[in-house]
Amino acid sequence: MDHFLYRNGALYAEDVAVAEIAEAVGTPFYCYSTATLERHYRLFDEALEGLDCLICYAVKANSNLAVLKTLGRLGSGADVVSEGEFRRALAAGIPGERVIFSGVGKTRQELEFALNNDVRQINVESEPELELLNEVALSLNAVAPVSMRVNPDVDAKTHEKISTGKAENKFGIAYEDAPRLYRKAAEMQGIRVVGVDMHIGSQLTDLEPYEQAYSLMRDLIERLEADGIPIPRIDLGGGLGVPYTRDNQPPPLPFDYGAMVRRVFAGMHDREFEIEPGRLIAANAGILVAKTVYVKENAGRQFLILDAAMNDLVRPALYDAWHDIDPVNEASANDTKQTYDVVGPICESGDTFAKQRLMPKIEQNDLVFFRSAGAYGAVMASEYNTRPPAPEVIVSKDRFVIARPRLTYDDMLGKDCIPEWFEEDETPQPPTDTA
Ligand code: LLP
Repeated sequence: MDHFLYRNGALYAEDVAVAEIAEAVGTPFYCYSTATLERHYRLFDEALEGLDCLICYAVKANSNLAVLKTLGRLGSGADVVSEGEFRRALAAGIPGERVIFSGVGKTRQELEFALNNDVRQINVESEPELELLNEVALSLNAVAPVSMRVNPDVDAKTHEKISTGKAENKFGIAYEDAPRLYRKAAEMQGIRVVGVDMHIGSQLTDLEPYEQAYSLMRDLIERLEADGIPIPRIDLGGGLGVPYTRDNQPPPLPFDYGAMVRRVFAGMHDREFEIEPGRLIAANAGILVAKTVYVKENAGRQFLILDAAMNDLVRPALYDAWHDIDPVNEASANDTKQTYDVVGPICESGDTFAKQRLMPKIEQNDLVFFRSAGAYGAVMASEYNTRPPAPEVIVSKDRFVIARPRLTYDDMLGKDCIPEWFEEDETPQPPTDTA
């Protein structure tokens, strides 16, 4: 459930009319709901009740400081994959002791930053990373708390670009290799083994691959402990999917997921657990609002040309992702419907949000909104076509704030630098015709 509902035919974000925000901020813009973020966080909290489990929100899903602060205040930790995300977590008041550092290519500088900021845990993904981390820790007179991300070679049955737990993916340490690396880590002076981690993919709509992966994790823990390496922490990763449309069977709820975790890890409930959800917390807590610039007919097809584009929301172009698109002014059930290709103004055909989508009839200047755009929306935006990415607004009850303003053209152009040699050089002359 989210807090974007129609009241008397007008879309509201909590208690604020979305059209009012559009009037104040202009379009396109992202709009997040505090109450929805909080509700989703609490769902996980309740689903895992009884386990000592730290929810480490995956910052990559939506790293706006207002969003991080909203979750951090509830006690959330953070799963970060870069120094930049780590800095965001700290800036939002989430202390290093609640930050997990994941990622397949952490640099020396990033590892140093993590150790200097009391990182809770570094999820190591390869032998060279383990060796570098040991060296960095020793140079800082520190001991790095390490979980190994193990690749269980399980098919998460999700889009290939967001599947991470198959042997062919770049992620994690091969399952068969894990015992050897744990033994190696246990002997390193700069490393303290604290746990095991798995993350098999994103937008999982089935619990079965999780269950397979977690059972393998359990076997590994038993094997490591029989080898004399205690594993006090279990990092369950993220990945639970969200309903992107009302028309399909909804994915399993956190509650069912929690029950499965308890069952698979029966007898191990005395450990510390960690979970790294991103999408399930943020996706349905955000919408992208856009205005219809033109309705155009071409060769019998109706195109809705919006003022939002793939530089604002790239998911449809990148993953053929579906987002429900609805009018801000609610259509009544007996209004005519029309089939549209919903597109942005960017100069490539990939800038298409939906093809042949049956929607209520939309007119020029009408506002529409994309549902479930709070995760992997604004964070993946770019300035392609020198378009200022959509600003971000956050609502709480009857208030709203611009949590990230729209860039001005001066902001965008001012980042480039024209080399000073243009001032020194003679202006090139066209070649003289010697023929
Ligand atoms: N933990 C790790 C180590 C991850 O790599 C990810 C996501 C998560 C947690 C959070 O997964 P979630 O709960 O959000 O599914 N841009 C893509 C999604 C990429 C996900 C990458 N990793 C999209 O728009 O669908």
